[in-house]
Amino acid sequence: MAVFKVLGSAAGGGFPQWNCNCPNCAGLRAGGLRAAPRTQSSVALSADGQDWLLINASPEVLQQIRQTPALQPARALRDSGVAAVLLIDAQIDHTAGLLMLRERATPLPLYATPEVLGDLEQGLGLPRLLGHYGGLAPRALPLDGGAIDAPFLGPLQVQALPLHSQPPPFSPYRGRPRRGDTVGLKIHNPQTGRKLFYAPGLGRIDAPVWAAMQWADTVLVDGTFWSETEMIDLGLSGKRAAEMGHLPQSGAEGMLHWLRQLPPSTGKWLIHINNSNPVLREDSAEHAELRAAGVALAYDGLEIVL
Ligand code: MLT
Ligand code: MN
Ligand code: ZN
Repeated sequence: MAVFKVLGSAAGGGFPQWNCNCPNCAGLRAGGLRAAPRTQSSVALSADGQDWLLINASPEVLQQIRQTPALQPARALRDSGVAAVLLIDAQIDHTAGLLMLRERATPLPLYATPEVLGDLEQGLGLPRLLGHYGGLAPRALPLDGGAIDAPFLGPLQVQALPLHSQPPPFSPYRGRPRRGDTVGLKIHNPQTGRKLFYAPGLGRIDAPVWAAMQWADTVLVDGTFWSETEMIDLGLSGKRAAEMGHLPQSGAEGMLHWLRQLPPSTGKWLIHINNSNPVLREDSAEHAELRAAGVALAYDGLEIVL
C-alpha cells in the first residue's frame, strides 16, 4: 500500500520552539493548551512500506525515525528504510538532518535542484563535509514536468513544481529568488488514481500552482503564518511572511481564500505550521475559521494512503 506519512508538521523551530515564550509555546509547556506538539518539517513516501523517500531531512530526523518503525525495516545488520532524500529547498529545517544520516556505507542518494545543491555547498558546506562520511549522491530533480527517476518508488510518480518563495537567509539569492530555489511536489499513483500536492514553502499561488491544487485530491500546503505580520505583532521578529516566502492563511488573497475554492472532496491540510500561528490552538477563532473552510492541520504521524 502506497503511503505518504507526515513525520514533522511544524515550521523551523518546531512547536514548542526551544527559546520561545510566545503564548503558544509557553502555553504548551505549561500544559492546558489545546494544541499538539510538532517536530520540524519532514514527510516520507513509500510504495511498499519498506523503501522510503524522505522528503526533507529535519533537525529532528533521528527522533522522527525512532517514532516511525516503518522507516527502520532492519533487513541487514546496518540498514534503513530511507532509500533516498529529496529536498524541496535548502532551508535549515529541511536540510540539517542530512548531518544525522552520515553513517551510511554508500553515498546517500539526494534529489535536489542545482540551486539547492549550490546553496548547501556555498552556504553550509554540507556536500563537501558529508564527503568525509558516507557522502551524498546527487540525483536530478527535473523542473520541466518530468518525474524523478526512483525505481524504489514502484509506480509512484513524483514531479517537482517550481514555486515562488524565498531561499534561506544564508543564500546569496535571498530577496532575489531563482527558479529552482523552492519546489512543490506533485505525487501520483497511477494504480489507484490518487494525486497529492505538497508545498510547505509557498509564497504565491500562481497559475501552475493553482492548476496543481485543482489536479490533486489531497493538498498539503504552506501553513506557516496566519497573518502577514504575525511575528511582528507578537514581538518575535521583524520579518513579514512575504519576506520569508510564505503566503499567510488570512487576508483577501490568503491561502484560505484559495482553499475555499477547491471542491469539498479535496483533502485540505496545512503543513509547516509555525509555533506562532494561532490556528495551532484548537479552541481559537482562527482554528474555527479553518475548520469552517474544510481545512485541517497536518500532525506528526498523519498517514495518507495513495
Ligand atoms: C522558513 O521556512 O522560512 C525557514 O525554515 C525559517 C527558518 O529557517 O527558521
Ligand atoms: Mn521552513
Ligand atoms: Zn513560539
